[in-house]
Amino acid sequence: MQIIPSITEMQALAISLRTQGKLIGLVPTMGALHEGHLRLIDTARQRADVVIVSIFVNPTQFGPNEDFAKYPRALEADAAACEKRGADIIFAPKKDDIYPPGYSTYVTEERISKGLCGISRPGHFRGVCTVVNLLFNITRPDLAIFGQKDAQQAAIIKKMAADLWLPVQIVVAPTVREADGLAMSSRNQYLSEEQRQDAARIYRALREGKRLVDEGIRSPDRVLAEVTHVLSQSRRIRVIYVTMVDRDSFAPTREIVPGKCLIAVAVWVNDVRLIDNLEV
Ligand code: PAF
Repeated sequence: MQIIPSITEMQALAISLRTQGKLIGLVPTMGALHEGHLRLIDTARQRADVVIVSIFVNPTQFGPNEDFAKYPRALEADAAACEKRGADIIFAPKKDDIYPPGYSTYVTEERISKGLCGISRPGHFRGVCTVVNLLFNITRPDLAIFGQKDAQQAAIIKKMAADLWLPVQIVVAPTVREADGLAMSSRNQYLSEEQRQDAARIYRALREGKRLVDEGIRSPDRVLAEVTHVLSQSRRIRVIYVTMVDRDSFAPTREIVPGKCLIAVAVWVNDVRLIDNLEV
């Protein structure tokens, strides 16, 4: 496995691999890899000849008061995990190479990114779309794998790829959960033992919402009230949003059509921001 920090080297290698007819699979990450990321690598491994994992903590997707500075960085452990899982290349560029002084070009998706995390994290998806475009242009993937845990991000990237005719297939892989249902996230490592137990309530709340839909409830308000109620039983959880949207367009659900909707949740567990979602 190669670790490539240089943009020009990475791009030249990607172009040469494509010329040789190799199918490139990209797994974009910000590092601090957990089993959820490693399953994305497995998905890429099954579908591509060459698997590139990008590791880049992208400053433009963090707000001024967010956790960019303290976001976990663990390149050595990440590299070992990637190698074990069969990745071929880690692309780990430097911040100033991706965004050199004077950098001034950004990409925005203007519909799906308006709601949910787009409200509570202004500018976040602009940063994501921008860096994902940069990563695509540098690594030239045939397919790129994203996790369903970040459902809004995945939907935005799919839309961006379609709108801009990007020659890449966007693959969305299922959320990987801990034994108690908590969605795996690099931010889980910020949680204390007590907070970790509270965080498990997020999935419990989503399951409760799904149970109501499975029982025939078709009013999103009824379902979301129950989800909010389960979350509010912990004093340490503060709800940022609890909502139901169309799973593709992210338009708010007026009447539930089973199999077409997503309950999406963002909460603070103390000062740790967590998101999750469940298709209903
Ligand atoms: O999901 C993430 O880890 C990031 O948002 C991504 C897609 C790697 C862009 O920085």
